[in-house]
Amino acid sequence: MTQPALSPDVSPAFAAEVRAGLTHAPQKELPSKYLYDEVGSALFEVITALPEYGVTRSEERLMAQHAVDIVAHLPHDVTVAELGSGSGRKTRRILEALCKKRPTSYCPIEISRTALQLCRRELGDIERISIVGYERDYLAGLAEVSRQRASGERLLVLFLGSTIGNFARLAATRFLREIRAMLAPGDALLLGTDLDKPVPVLLAAYDDPIGVTAAFNLNLLARINRELGGDFPLDAFEHVARFNRDARSIEMHLRATRHVTAQVRAAQLTVTLEAGETIWTESSHKYRVEEVDAMAHDAGFACEHQWLERDWGFAESLLVAR
Ligand code: AVI
Repeated sequence: MTQPALSPDVSPAFAAEVRAGLTHAPQKELPSKYLYDEVGSALFEVITALPEYGVTRSEERLMAQHAVDIVAHLPHDVTVAELGSGSGRKTRRILEALCKKRPTSYCPIEISRTALQLCRRELGDIERISIVGYERDYLAGLAEVSRQRASGERLLVLFLGSTIGNFARLAATRFLREIRAMLAPGDALLLGTDLDKPVPVLLAAYDDPIGVTAAFNLNLLARINRELGGDFPLDAFEHVARFNRDARSIEMHLRATRHVTAQVRAAQLTVTLEAGETIWTESSHKYRVEEVDAMAHDAGFACEHQWLERDWGFAESLLVAR
């Protein structure tokens, strides 16, 4: 049987990272950033509405309660750059509070054009806001926003939603250091982190009973099949969420329920999994409030204020570049 031609838009970076991850021993892995194609982003939006996944609602409650106070603690005259704006929903309160005080420029930075369009639609009605989207990865986008700002203008970087939790701990500090390198003393970073909570609560949040998180995870293999000419049999994989006590993270894996051999044509790869073997697709680290303070300090920031939402357990920390 002849195989369908590979799309001319195959991403060489995606193919190379799939090849590296699926030949990684002893644990096969795939980078979590590839969970977010159009289907994955839509499934993630559904996850945020699940009763078991409290992260997004907790941050929204925190913002509803504290946005005005957060803005009162910010330097004057800030341009706002957001890393990974998503739909823009979680940012609305803070932008409304800022725009009430003065006209504000907001620069969402996103690799997804669809997310930028959604964000403009969601936030474009705020009075006295001007939105300039950057279709870039986080650091390239931030470098550009930082270069283009007028003299005397301060930057406020938003990194919300606990996306920092998807970095390993050392990589998280390294990433904050890279952000710091693009800022001037006195610029600020508002960092959202999901806090430690009992393991059963976390397991339910990342393995919901109606299977949305399972679909979100499995879509990664489906995406490889669609975009890289893969032939993973999706019915031979199941979603697994497990707590890693040493890392204090929830890990998502895809477990083969039988022996699988699959090809990924664009990555020139044949991959074999034994029954029970997993592919590690994401880690979501949980934080203690004092840990955020220490990590910020290591990265060249001072943690000047923290706001907590205690029902679920979420922190917003205001880090100021030293
Ligand atoms: C985007 N990120 C903060 C989510 C999290 O909680 O780690 C991604 C996610 N994965 C499964 N559910 C949600």
